[in-house]
This record gives sequence, C-alpha cells and structure tokens, in this order.
Amino acid sequence: MKLEGKRILITGGSSGIGAATAVEVSKLGASCILVARDESKLEKIRETLHGEGHQIYPFDLLKLKEISALIERITSESGPLYGLIHCAGMDNTQPFRTITIEELDLLMDLNFKSFWCLAQEFVKKKNHEKEDSRVIAIGSVAALSGIAGNSLYAASKGALVSLTKSLAAEYAAKNIRFNCICPGYVQTPMLERAKRLYPDESSFENGIVKKHPLGLGLPEDVAKAVAFFVGEGGRWATGSTLVIDGGYSYAK
Ligand SMILES: NC(=O)c1ccc[n+]([C@@H]2O[C@H](COP(=O)([O-])OP(=O)(O)OC[C@H]3O[C@@H](n4cnc5c(N)ncnc54)[C@H](OP(=O)(O)O)[C@@H]3O)[C@@H](O)[C@H]2O)c1
Repeated sequence: MKLEGKRILITGGSSGIGAATAVEVSKLGASCILVARDESKLEKIRETLHGEGHQIYPFDLLKLKEISALIERITSESGPLYGLIHCAGMDNTQPFRTITIEELDLLMDLNFKSFWCLAQEFVKKKNHEKEDSRVIAIGSVAALSGIAGNSLYAASKGALVSLTKSLAAEYAAKNIRFNCICPGYVQTPMLERAKRLYPDESSFENGIVKKHPLGLGLPEDVAKAVAFFVGEGGRWATGSTLVIDGGYSYAK
C-alpha cells in the first residue's frame, strides 16, 4: 500500500477522522492537502504528518461557489490529484419537527453539497490522475439505520451513500473509484459536542456506548479503512459502502 508521490486532498483535515486519515496516508507516503477553516489547527496537524510536501488550504466549504476556484488553485500549484477524501461535516441532533429550512440548508451544504461540488471539480480531466484515482466520502451508520433525533444528519449521509454509488457507475470507465465509509460513533470533538446533549454520563453510556459491542471507535479505525480504499487493496473497489461500527448496526 505505497502512496509515494500521490496527492490526496482531505477535507476536515484539521480534526478527528480527517486528521487521523492524513496521518495514516502520510505514513504510506502520500502528500496531503488539508482543507478546513481553522488555519492554526491545520498547521498543527501538518506538523504531525510523516514525510514532506504537505500543504494546507484554509477554506470554508460552505462557500460552495468558490470550491471550483479552490480546486483550480490547488491543482495549478501542485498538479492533478490522486485522491479526494471528504471528512468535513457537522452533526445535528434535534426533533424532526423543529428543524428549520435554514438548518436544513446549512447542514446539507456542508455535509453533502460541498462534496458534490468537490467531486464535480475532481472528475474534470485536468484535476485527477487519469490512470487511477480514488474518492472516498465519510458517511455514517445514521445513513443506513434509523436514529431518532438524527433525521437531518442521516439524510445528508444517505445522500453521500447514493451519490458515491451513481458516480462509481458513471466514472468507472475513467478509472475513478468512488466509495463511502459509514462509521459508528467515533471518539472525536464531534462526539464530545454530541455528548453534551445527554443529561448525564450514564444516559450517554446506555444510549451510545453500550450499543457498540466493540466499544466506541477511534479516528484511527476509520483512517485505516480509508487507507484500504486509497491503497492497492482498493484497486477493485468502487460503489461500495463500508460499515465500520464496532457492531453497532447488528447490536442496535
Ligand atoms: N465522530 C463520529 O462519531 C462520526 C461518526 C460517523 C461519521 N462521522 C463523520 O466523520 C466526519 C468527520 O467527523 P469528526 O467526528 O472527525 O468531526 P470533527 O472532529 O468535528 O471534525 C470536523 C472537521 O470538519 C471541518 N469543518 C467543519 N465545518 C467546516 C466548513 N464550513 N468548512 C471546512 N471545513 C469544515 C472542521 O474543521 P474547521 O472547524 O477548522 O473548519 C474539522 O476539521 C464528519 O463528516 C462526520 O459526520 C463522525
């Protein structure tokens, strides 16, 4: 699974799963291009990466109309991309009936539409390596199993699952592989924020932790699954949805 000389753009590369993914693929030799809003956090993660030549591009992915110019800048400065890994995302936990149109738009813009725009740029001939390139979206088990109070988040992740399947079919002939990874609950700052919505430790323990027979995930668990899809092992994989959830889906 050697990725020497491969340029991989990772959104959400400043934290949690995106940061762990950057570390993992850098160990395999990839050059990482990290995108998120907070420049100082991006810089800190860049310093932890293995090897040389990693870059950071502080950018707010909610600026959907500027994504085209971002990719243009990245590829003109460093060449076509081998990989795109979409980890940027936000959570939403609230009753379905209280979700406003503004909240719907905001979450869909970040979790789904920014990936749509990034993928639309990635598939342009000049922006990806023509022999073989890889796109991975981070979905969620919420996309596949109903979770009360998570309708908006789940719908955004379901959209990633179905989009990656259609794009896998549409772009296999161009050697672009599209896959989606659906993790269970992973110990990241996002989960820490979600935890604050629980009245106490024991309700979080019973509501979330105990539903994972193998315990909560670590960002590195997901990063290793990403490494499979971007590495040699992923050569024959496209259009798949990988659930990696410590048993949450069957035990739930
Ligand atoms: N943690 C879990 O339990 C879990 C489970 C299943 C799936 N996931 C998914 O995994 C992905 C990563 O989540 P995580 O848990 O690692 O969360 P996290 O630690 O909160 O990281 C979220 C990342 O998204 C970036 N981001 C947020 N808003 C952005 C914006 N407007 N523009 C650009 N970047 C933005 C953040 O950086 P800045 O704030 O600097 O912009 C950060 O790098 C998400 O898509 C999440 O839905 C997480």
